Amino acid sequence: MFVNLSRWIPVFCVFLTLSSGISSAAEDEAAPPDPAKASAAPIVPGPNDKPASTLRDAFADDFLIGVALSSRQVNGMDAASSDFAARHFSSVTAENEMKWQSLHPWPGVFNFRDADAYVEYASKHGMKLIGHALVWHSQTPDWVFEGESGKPATRDQLLARMREHIQAVAGHYKGKVKGWDVVNEALSDGGSDPLRDSPWKEIIGEDFIDHAFRFAKEADPNAELYYNDYGLEDPRKRANCVKLLRGLLDRGVPIDGVGTQSHFQLDEPSNEQVEQTIKDFAALGLKVIITELDVDVLPSYGPAGIADINRREKSDPSLNPYTGGLPAEIQQKLAQRYADLFAIYLRHRKSITRVTFWGLYDGHTWLNHFPIRGRTNHPLLFDRNFKPKPAFFEVLKLAEATAPAGDE
Ligand code: G3I
Repeated sequence: MFVNLSRWIPVFCVFLTLSSGISSAAEDEAAPPDPAKASAAPIVPGPNDKPASTLRDAFADDFLIGVALSSRQVNGMDAASSDFAARHFSSVTAENEMKWQSLHPWPGVFNFRDADAYVEYASKHGMKLIGHALVWHSQTPDWVFEGESGKPATRDQLLARMREHIQAVAGHYKGKVKGWDVVNEALSDGGSDPLRDSPWKEIIGEDFIDHAFRFAKEADPNAELYYNDYGLEDPRKRANCVKLLRGLLDRGVPIDGVGTQSHFQLDEPSNEQVEQTIKDFAALGLKVIITELDVDVLPSYGPAGIADINRREKSDPSLNPYTGGLPAEIQQKLAQRYADLFAIYLRHRKSITRVTFWGLYDGHTWLNHFPIRGRTNHPLLFDRNFKPKPAFFEVLKLAEATAPAGDE
């Protein structure tokens, strides 16, 4: 590890650029720390200094730094977001547009228009495109699981539908995506069965996962194939995940990586659990990917670590305390949380191939609507005016303070 002081200049520049070009915060955000004051040493740009003023430049030697974007954020309707995201991120995931419901709403009907916009956007900005997700229990139309005369589909019917869907979708994006979340959220959050009760498992059986990966390999042999889930930092769920992944590997199922979604809170899961999760997955020889990172700062009565979209809580004003902006104390806590997380990610950058944020800025995040609709959450690095938060500077500072990969 060394600290290259000349690299502080770009950090300072990004602060100037981002904070001057954007109207001042409607929210009472604490002013970002002035990175130039972080060291007493004079800041003098070297003649060959390559500015690493954005996240994508700062982490270029470490891992892809990604973002999930909505349709409007890539198709030009929200041009401010499109440009901003392309400056900071080296990969993009479709937040909803590559899910079954969006791409294949009816038998035989495929609608690739919205998802194709991501291909264009990624190619225009030199970003890697990540496909999310081929097989999931959520956002999959009911007809997929239905058979004749109101009965459930048979195993053979459902396997045929899964294969047709994967062939069509992964086939359409062949050579255009870097990798696919092939199976999303198959594990349970409790009980004796490691797998959740989904129609996939009920109708096909536990081997639905093997089939999904094999069909994906058939459709796009060069795409990386991932298993993706949330809450894997929980020791029970993680142990079940390791067992599941080991089983896939033992049976020769084509899998390249595991995505830990990382929908976190300020205090949970612990840093130790986060790090142990990365170690346990890396020990399997799989690529480890942080696929949906955000930090929920709002209070909740429910099981905070469960990012299941079906979890809903009753609205209560006491659970929405930061509508006027994030108090400085919580802002600092968030910055520290992100600093701790990225220190771990950088320590394991040989195993981690990508860190993706689930959203670009606080103005558009699923956490404004989960588990209670219409709250004001603040989970990302950029606030509602795209202004970088203290967490952004902490993260950038860590990247800049880490030696290029070859120097280790
Ligand atoms: O597009 C419709 C719109 O036509 C309709 O008027 C509106 C009314 O509610 O709904 C719109 O659909 C919403 C969709 O997002 C697009 O905005 C759905 O209601 C809403 O449920 C859906 O939420 C998405 C959620 O997945 C669905 O499961 C979130 O945006 C998305 O961030 C979230 O992402 C998931 C990952 O895929 C998997 N891991 C967990 C993560 C967070 O839940």
